[in-house]
Amino acid sequence: MTIHIGAKPGDIAETVLMPGDPYRAKWAAKTFLKDAKLVNEVRGMLGFTGTWNGNRVTIQGSGMGMPSLSIYANELISEYNAQTLIRIGSCGGMQPQVGIRDVIIAMTATTITSPSSGIFREMNYAPCADWSLLRAAVDAAEAKGTKTHVGGIYSSDVFYAERPDLDEQMTRHGILGVEMEAAELYSLAARHKRRALAVLTVSDHLQTGEALPAEEREKSFGDMVEIALKAAFP
Ligand code: ADE
Repeated sequence: MTIHIGAKPGDIAETVLMPGDPYRAKWAAKTFLKDAKLVNEVRGMLGFTGTWNGNRVTIQGSGMGMPSLSIYANELISEYNAQTLIRIGSCGGMQPQVGIRDVIIAMTATTITSPSSGIFREMNYAPCADWSLLRAAVDAAEAKGTKTHVGGIYSSDVFYAERPDLDEQMTRHGILGVEMEAAELYSLAARHKRRALAVLTVSDHLQTGEALPAEEREKSFGDMVEIALKAAFP
């Protein structure tokens, strides 16, 4: 047990999928895993371990934002020996060619601040995905026929942004979408020599103002979970 995860040693698989929402963790475990067992419910941040195609997988909620993700990812890495961590979540589209329901596979994650800023100080560190996971995810998405974009995303500290000029610069520099967790996940994975990736579904769009209706979110989320599982076990 750690401060925030009640799982017993051995309860957590080496491969962990991390949605922000704990109820999405529950839905994904029920939908995709065999013999899924609840392994964590501390603070309601549900985690489940089961198997997918015979491979052990944990699906653990991360909460929203980099400080929350940092707590869970640190404990999964340091105390439970997680080796492969894949964020599955939603993001806001930032390019005209990126549509609602499309999938974004994040090659890099730009930030302004993150829990790691204190370490990086003046360095503009470029958090990037694990290449083997990225390549396998792209292969899986192509095989599935999911409309997918691969490139840089922006990990923001705020959902309700007050700097339209900043969004404009991100768009101008080719950033595909905005979410709130991947940069810290990539930084932690690099620091601890683990593999990380973020596979995201576009749930809203900053330029068009479109948003995915609640009832459609499940189906789009399912494609993303499948891509993440196939990336982990190609
Ligand atoms: N996650 C999903 N949509 C988002 C947005 N517009 N900004 C930040 N995080 C998000």
